Amino acid sequence: MPTRPARDPAEITIERVSVLYALESEATPLVERLGLQEQPAVDPQLRPRHFAGTVGTLHVDLLTLGRDPRSGTERVGTDAATMGAYMGVRKLSPDLLLNAGTCGGFEAEGAAVGTIYVSRGDLLFHDRRIPIAAFRQQAEGRWPGTPAPRLAQAIGAREGVVSSGNSLDCLPGELEFMRRERVCAKDMEATAIAQVCVQCGVPFVAVKAVTDLVDHPEPVQDAFLRNLRMVSALLAERMEAGVRWLGAHPRRAGDL
Ligand code: ADE
Repeated sequence: MPTRPARDPAEITIERVSVLYALESEATPLVERLGLQEQPAVDPQLRPRHFAGTVGTLHVDLLTLGRDPRSGTERVGTDAATMGAYMGVRKLSPDLLLNAGTCGGFEAEGAAVGTIYVSRGDLLFHDRRIPIAAFRQQAEGRWPGTPAPRLAQAIGAREGVVSSGNSLDCLPGELEFMRRERVCAKDMEATAIAQVCVQCGVPFVAVKAVTDLVDHPEPVQDAFLRNLRMVSALLAERMEAGVRWLGAHPRRAGDL
């Protein structure tokens, strides 16, 4: 598909949405709810799973990040997210890219397992440190997401700051950064995808569901593994509502 000419992202009318998930277990419940059909691999090297369908006025593509060629585990983290997002934007030309998935939440911000967040403001990286003034912004991300208060309301989500890094657990300095920035959702992909979307002129929103609490004594991996299936089902319910809201009639990215 040819690359589109530069547009003011807020003026884009959303007729094509791409939904990017890391894990198949997060994505499958939405594929089933929307009745999306599997498509041939959109990229022969990365081999993401690709499903597509129509919801009202909307063409929907759903991509996962594919699998690590050595271990066979699903790709997670910012490297995979950057590659997957760039490939998706180039091949599918979405008017809006949604990154859906699970996240760590924070009791201090009032979260519980199952709380859903829509990204608010700039998206951050909490594990990149370059103590040289000119590089600080690049390290910390601060890539703006597209404001989506109406979408958040339509799906019963809170709005909150999202921060990404490449670890499931968290070092004390990272926790301190996230406390300072009032982070609500700690994930491993969203900010990398926002970075691609801003530079490609594609509106971007993250929708994240809490599987574990970062500021709680239980190891996050235990809560994550225990809650992944249940929270993915809950996320799919809300994502279905969001996709149907987007497909009810064409909406401008500036009106999300
Ligand atoms: N996804 C789910 N829980 C997470 C956590 N604690 N950190 C990063 N990504 C996550």
